[in-house]
Amino acid sequence: MKAVLLVGGEGTRLRPLTCNTVKAMVPIVNRPFLQHLLGYLKSHGVDDIVVTLCYLPDRIENRFGNGSECGVKLAYVMEETPLGTAGAVKNAESHLDGAFFVFNGDIITNIDLQSMLSFHRKRNAVATIALTPVENPSAYGVVETASDGRVKRFIEKPPADQAPSNLINAGIYILEPTVLQGIPHGSHCMFERQLFPSLLSDGAAVFAYSTSDYWIDMGTPEKYRQVQYDLLQRKCASLLYTETAAANTVAAHGTVVHQSAVLEGPIVFGNNCSIGAGARIKGPTVLGDGCSVSDGSILDKAILWQNVRVGKEASVRESVIGDNCVVGRSSVIEPGSVVGDNVVITEGSHLQTGQRVWPDTTV
Ligand code: GTP
Repeated sequence: MKAVLLVGGEGTRLRPLTCNTVKAMVPIVNRPFLQHLLGYLKSHGVDDIVVTLCYLPDRIENRFGNGSECGVKLAYVMEETPLGTAGAVKNAESHLDGAFFVFNGDIITNIDLQSMLSFHRKRNAVATIALTPVENPSAYGVVETASDGRVKRFIEKPPADQAPSNLINAGIYILEPTVLQGIPHGSHCMFERQLFPSLLSDGAAVFAYSTSDYWIDMGTPEKYRQVQYDLLQRKCASLLYTETAAANTVAAHGTVVHQSAVLEGPIVFGNNCSIGAGARIKGPTVLGDGCSVSDGSILDKAILWQNVRVGKEASVRESVIGDNCVVGRSSVIEPGSVVGDNVVITEGSHLQTGQRVWPDTTV
């Protein structure tokens, strides 16, 4: 079965983490997001995949090549200027024959794709849209359906009290290639705003497949942390982590933990980390390769990328720290902080709740 992946966006909501990389390459428990997505697709029988690229295309193609490392076949299509979500799929049309999946490039899910496919086939749908419940639908695209699952209407970001349901577009579709016929080649087109409404007005069979299987859009820093907490706490599964999730604390090759350090899992360490005397690490926490945590420091639900150095008596709580950062001695990083790559946080600094720090700066 085929899929088209939408990974061409700039990942603006994840900045500053995506200043030097693309969203699909951002690490989720120390592996690129895309590696998780490819593993999931393969495990659901989807192994022939077209990746639509626009922003920093080489990052993805150089890392994943023909897909053999992940056991899938990958092809790439490039956009010189962004074509939008539906325009990007149109651009991949020559790779498509029968029904195919479309995936937004920021979703981690356990949705049962074969069950969605049989739903699509039973209804002779030309398009099936996966829906997932959320607490507050007002930040999303809400989909109103009839009792047989037929889509009636799309409502973009409705005020909380006006949403007809809490079911939102999960960014996962099954499409028949015929639906692409109405999109002019090379033109900008979005699924929810243009293609789906135009199919509805033509009376086409557009259905919604509702599911409460695990689903998260990791495109904001809060959700980016949350998905990793969920993986470590086994609220969702990734084939990359079945083994490690069984253990409370997972130390990779070359990691050294001082005997007086206090570890409260789940914690995943990358290779060659070092944890000093009296340091306290409370999970769910992830350390990338080459991180060091000096004596007396505290990490609490922290996500550290590679080569982060945390000085003595510093604390990092519920925050993300990018590659090669230095957290100075006695610094305090309050929850919700997001620090880009190569930042130096000087001794005794205090990052306020939710503070974002741009790459290559000193604070
Ligand atoms: P970013 O965070 O900037 O990526 O945007 P978003 O997550 O708010 O994106 P949106 O909901 O508009 O798009 C859903 C998915 O499609 C994301 O994974 C985007 O990276 C991707 N995407 C959006 N626009 C384009 C485009 O023009 N071309 C391609 N190939 N992908 C796109």
